[in-house]
Amino acid sequence: MAIRPILLHPDPRLKKRCEPVETVDEEIRTLIADMFTTMYDAPGIGLAAPQVGVLRRVLVMDCAKSDEEDPAPIAMVNPEVVWESDDLNVHEEGCLSIPEEFNDVERPAQVRVAYTDAEGTAQEIECDGLLATCVQHEIDHLNGKLFIDYLGPMKRQMITGRMKKRKKEKAAAKGTTAKA
Ligand code: NI
Repeated sequence: MAIRPILLHPDPRLKKRCEPVETVDEEIRTLIADMFTTMYDAPGIGLAAPQVGVLRRVLVMDCAKSDEEDPAPIAMVNPEVVWESDDLNVHEEGCLSIPEEFNDVERPAQVRVAYTDAEGTAQEIECDGLLATCVQHEIDHLNGKLFIDYLGPMKRQMITGRMKKRKKEKAAAKGTTAKA
């Protein structure tokens, strides 16, 4: 299980619609294991395959509150929202590909999601609260959509501007280390 580098916004790979997985094979299981390692290391509560540069419909989540609850890892292949509530919920969201930026996003409060698990078995799960927010955020990633796409254009441009600056600083810092 390896930590894979997380792509940072803006990156064209984060704007692509990902391809469905035909068979849950060893390659997909390795991807899932690496994604869990990468997500827990970050740390984060969700990660989608395009965030590690793999344009396939795979995501991992663990919305357990680490101090109080046991880990609750969920891996989804080809997830699809099959039902969503009329009730909406506003939750502050962040993203491992847009670090240090947090904004309120309104989404359906409950969703039912059909997916294939890491063993290749069809599953369906009812999501509520933080899990509902997280699963919708991660499925959006598989469709090339980021949480900042829900914000107004001004706010989105400001965040993208700050991210460009941070990426430049990070690249410069890396260059220095490599020379040392
Ligand atoms: Ni994200």
